[in-house]
Amino acid sequence: MTEATGRKGLRRGVLIVDFGTQYCQLIARRVREHGVFSHITTPAGAVAQVEAGGYGAIILSGGPRSVYEADAPVLDPAVLDRGLPVLGICYGMQWLSRALGGEVVPATGETSREYGHAELSLNSTPGPVFDRVAGPTQVWMSHGDEVATLPEGFVVGASTPTCPNAAAYDASRRIAMLQFHPEVTHTVEGQTILRNFLFDVAQLEADWSPGSIVEETVAALREQIGTGEVVLGLSGGVDSSVAAMLIHRAIGDRLHCVFVDNGLLRAGERASVEGLFQRNFEMDVCVVDASERFLEDLAGVTNPEKKRHLIGHRFVDVFREAASRYEDARFLGQGTLYPDVIESVAAHGGATSVIKSHHNVGGLPEDLGMELVEPLRQLFKDEVRVIGRSMDMPAEVIDRQPFPGPGLAVRIVGEITRERCELLRDADRIITTEIEAAGCSAGLWQYFGVLLPTVQSVGVMGDARTYENPVVLRAVTSADAMTADWAFLPEDLLRRISNRIINEVRGVNRVVLDITSKPPGTIEWE
Ligand code: XMP
Repeated sequence: MTEATGRKGLRRGVLIVDFGTQYCQLIARRVREHGVFSHITTPAGAVAQVEAGGYGAIILSGGPRSVYEADAPVLDPAVLDRGLPVLGICYGMQWLSRALGGEVVPATGETSREYGHAELSLNSTPGPVFDRVAGPTQVWMSHGDEVATLPEGFVVGASTPTCPNAAAYDASRRIAMLQFHPEVTHTVEGQTILRNFLFDVAQLEADWSPGSIVEETVAALREQIGTGEVVLGLSGGVDSSVAAMLIHRAIGDRLHCVFVDNGLLRAGERASVEGLFQRNFEMDVCVVDASERFLEDLAGVTNPEKKRHLIGHRFVDVFREAASRYEDARFLGQGTLYPDVIESVAAHGGATSVIKSHHNVGGLPEDLGMELVEPLRQLFKDEVRVIGRSMDMPAEVIDRQPFPGPGLAVRIVGEITRERCELLRDADRIITTEIEAAGCSAGLWQYFGVLLPTVQSVGVMGDARTYENPVVLRAVTSADAMTADWAFLPEDLLRRISNRIINEVRGVNRVVLDITSKPPGTIEWE
């Protein structure tokens, strides 16, 4: 499924145009929660996407800019030419109003700025997006500008005390505009409003289900791969395993999985993944020990992005080498997810920035020489888990905690050496074992250790002074890794972990707890 053509000929979804809002992912999720496929695009890519077909409606997101600012995102009004139903949210409403001949006024004082909760009153004919919504109702506002004069054809549907045109609708063009944010939970009837837009206004169908995704994906894979062979980097985690399963369904034993021991794995990982796949799957899996090469590449490197790029390149080398053993392995399979893509590329014309280069996205060389096969590129991890379960994959795979492709390299802050890997592996094993033994793992997204660099600290052990490394304990809850909360672990569990690490892991004399959420932090330290 490529971005430009992926939906052609398939069921109709929603194209979300991202004007730079922090809520864009949330809009996508909300739409999918209603069983409708959604895809986010940049303003620059929107017209091509609409023309490629496959979309039954457009949502224009909010954004941090004013339509009057010189660097406001530019969207070609031709996006409206196909006459698709449109929902404009916040900046999306302001862009629509301006594009269609209305008037947007900048904030000039208390009356036009509105942030936080607001009470929305509905007019007598508020339009179909307010069906089954009783006014007044609480909505979430976050805007400086507002629409002073609606474009011709629009009827005002709802107001707040400071925003007379808080919602408007043009029945003939099927365009709805909302100054508030229906996607956030603070807007009490937000899901009803979105539902009304999707099913009553746009007449979409709720056909985005695990079964349909598997069917569609397998068909698209067969079309893409033809008679070729695929080499897939298998880590044993849920993403690459589900990707492998889908590709295997599509092309059977023309799929060759490669498990790379890069020297950056967790304790016992290689043996456990080998066993897991032998027991559960009839796939061709080979193990390549490339640990020497990876660790040599990383010697003396401390910059996180450099580490990621070196690792990405070395992975590609190993995959190419593996591919050369087969007759027609022109394809490289990967378990890339939607958040990996979004966080690795400044996808929105500068409005968002690269957070970190996920090795399977940002670290690929331009002359890869293989075509990518990424069946999960448009999915969130929780959706991938649902798909995996629908294909009867074992819980051992589906519920495995995520482990980043670059492995311990992004959990060893500073220089990576074999010794430091060993040290972190030992500490991490204690963290994992204790959390799982205490029955606390089920509610956690990830739990692991991080080794800090030269920040040694003074301690005392057995009456002697120590001057050694701290290990960070990181445990988070999350739904999709886009946001995360640090987890509150029981005190006795924390005490056991701390005691065991300090007693059993030579070179560590302090254990600290990371209590940072995402944002502002990220889950991994690098
Ligand atoms: P961050 O640290 O960006 O991580 O909050 C979000 C999720 O992604 C995982 N992660 C990666 N996964 N390749 C991967 O396959 C990578 O390069 C990578 N970096 C981070 C991380 O473990 C978390 O679940």
